[in-house]
Amino acid sequence: MSHQIAVLAGDGIGPEVMTHAVEIMKLSLQEESSSFSFEEGKVGGAAIDQCGEPLPKETLRLCEESQAILFGSVGGPKWENLPSEKQPERGALLPLRKHFELFANLRPVILYPELVASCPLNHHITKKGIDLLIIRELTGGIYFGKPRGREGKGEEERAFDTMSYTRREIERIALMALEASSSRRKKLTSIDKANVLSSMVFWRQVVNETVERYNQVNQSTSEKIALEHMYVDNASMQLILCPSRFDVLLCGNMFGDILSDEASVLGGSLGMMCSASLSAVCNKESDGSTRFGMYEPAGGSAPDIEGKGIANPIAQILSSALLLRYSFRKEDASLRIENAVRSALRDGARTKDIAQKGEKTVNTFEMAQEIQKNIRDDRIRA
Ligand code: IPM
Ligand code: MN
Repeated sequence: MSHQIAVLAGDGIGPEVMTHAVEIMKLSLQEESSSFSFEEGKVGGAAIDQCGEPLPKETLRLCEESQAILFGSVGGPKWENLPSEKQPERGALLPLRKHFELFANLRPVILYPELVASCPLNHHITKKGIDLLIIRELTGGIYFGKPRGREGKGEEERAFDTMSYTRREIERIALMALEASSSRRKKLTSIDKANVLSSMVFWRQVVNETVERYNQVNQSTSEKIALEHMYVDNASMQLILCPSRFDVLLCGNMFGDILSDEASVLGGSLGMMCSASLSAVCNKESDGSTRFGMYEPAGGSAPDIEGKGIANPIAQILSSALLLRYSFRKEDASLRIENAVRSALRDGARTKDIAQKGEKTVNTFEMAQEIQKNIRDDRIRA
């Protein structure tokens, strides 16, 4: 087998949607699927229950042997009272990001015309279209900055975190955003809080320098990327007032976390939002054009609907399309999946989260069936 994918379904609705995503990936790869292997590993609460820790060594080893991770979701009420470093999110997700240096988190937000009614914004706003890409720095900033901790006693007891960014960290995420912008509408909005935080003054400065260099080098080969800067508080307002003004948003770790949850509802439902977290490390056997990456839906484990079979599998399925694109350069297979999802929506398939009141809904299985059928039909037509 030349290509290996680590499949970590995790908790909650993770396993329910994962089986469909794997089936659909195989189908979309057609004959090539025989050169892919899909290896399952335990992670999150499921791993705590079996091995006593959220990211067991065997799972980490499996990921190291693979070229990409397809991740489900972790966490749930059962593990909520554990000490925070033992919890599925802190104990599995953050260490995976750090271990594989998954510094670039891509979260595309698209409002398909078919789902306009599910978007909470007014029609006069949505009619201009929503198609944006959040690029979030994922291994630095206040999530990992040192020192952090707690000290002192009584009234003087305090807790603290550190927001810090190095030039290298800012440059590489800015470059990633520039590259993404160049194949889109060439408009980059860098988000910061440079009116208050010195780490963000530096962020703005390095982004400016990186964009300037990029535009000089690429002057002859492509159009220049237009850069604007926006404070994060204003950006959170503009996302609601006028989302069509955005193409690529470049954010630090925490601001990207917050804005991406806000933006996810613009696509109609959290159940629609996929994501890619790309590594600084290129995949060994490749020519340097593919990266190790972890791919996951942004919606979380949704314990409230676990086991009911009604979860929307689309975010997981679209995450697998991103996996094929970024970690294996299988653009055709990736597009087959994305087109099949789109057709399913066009034909009216709606899980509960994206259905209108009174509209007929399908369950997880039926939505996946619909998407599979579209991939097969696509083949017949081709
Ligand atoms: C996300 C999540 C994580 C984050 C949590 C679960 C640690 O909210 O991926 O956006 O804050 O990064
Ligand atoms: Mn988040």
